[in-house]
Amino acid sequence: MRVIKTIIEARKIRWQLSGSVGFVPTMGYLHEGHLTLVRRAKKENSIVAVSIFVNPTQFGPSEDLKKYPRDLNRDLELLEREKTDIVFMPSEQEMYPSKFNSWVDVEKVTERLEGASRPGHFRGVATICTKLFNIIQPARAYFGQKDAQQVVVIKKMVADLNMDLEIVVVPTVRESDGLAMSSRNIYLNTEERKAAPILFKALSLARQLWQDGEQNADKICGEMTALIQKEPLASIDYISIADADTLEELKEVSHQPALVSSAVRIGRTKLIDNITLG
Ligand code: PAJ
Repeated sequence: MRVIKTIIEARKIRWQLSGSVGFVPTMGYLHEGHLTLVRRAKKENSIVAVSIFVNPTQFGPSEDLKKYPRDLNRDLELLEREKTDIVFMPSEQEMYPSKFNSWVDVEKVTERLEGASRPGHFRGVATICTKLFNIIQPARAYFGQKDAQQVVVIKKMVADLNMDLEIVVVPTVRESDGLAMSSRNIYLNTEERKAAPILFKALSLARQLWQDGEQNADKICGEMTALIQKEPLASIDYISIADADTLEELKEVSHQPALVSSAVRIGRTKLIDNITLG
């Protein structure tokens, strides 16, 4: 496993490689969700590259950039075990030298959901992913369905800007009680951790209602709200049922794939999760 910290080094190595590169961008503090992406990339490509970079431009001023969990030694051990070929872990200065002034802005699909509650977040994500794609030049990049809006934004950006790579989406990896794995789950104390599966329970309720024939989006959202409100530690940021491609809100869930997504605060920790219907 080669651990690279500079763009020059990454370019040098890239030109020596033949065969397809599968790329997994991450912010580190790796868990089974990340490692599932790495395994999938390993299976489908001759070389696997993983980046670890806590990207400051996707964090708002009041968000958790400074205390975002980090454990580089553990991350490298885990990646070594997965037989990762290349780890790219640049410094902030390497990715954003002073006078950095170019941004990638994906319109419309960034306006709602996470985009509405985190202004500038997807501009940061789209910009860093563009930079990483340009440096690593992968044939395929792997993203988790856990961050459903991120997937929509990245796919739109790749299509609109004619980027020459395939975006592969990997299903959400969950704990045994349904909680979606996330680096931020470490913020939950024991009581909050017990309360956290309420989010997946509400999404599962939505699926059940829909399978039983309910198509009215407001009714499904209403039942989800009522269930989450029974959990005293939870407060709802949003619940949405939207077209899975455009992210426009739906009134009826009938034929086209619908993304049911929600953000819920458990104590001070914001959790997001989603499922797709249809
Ligand atoms: P990060 O939160 O570290 O996630 C890296 C990748 O792992 C993302 O594609 C995310 O969707 C995926 N992932 C996280 N939890 C998962 C789970 N439980 N199951 C499946 N996949 C999961 O997302 C980011 O970093 C950043 O925004 C990044 C794309 C690296 C840009 O900075």
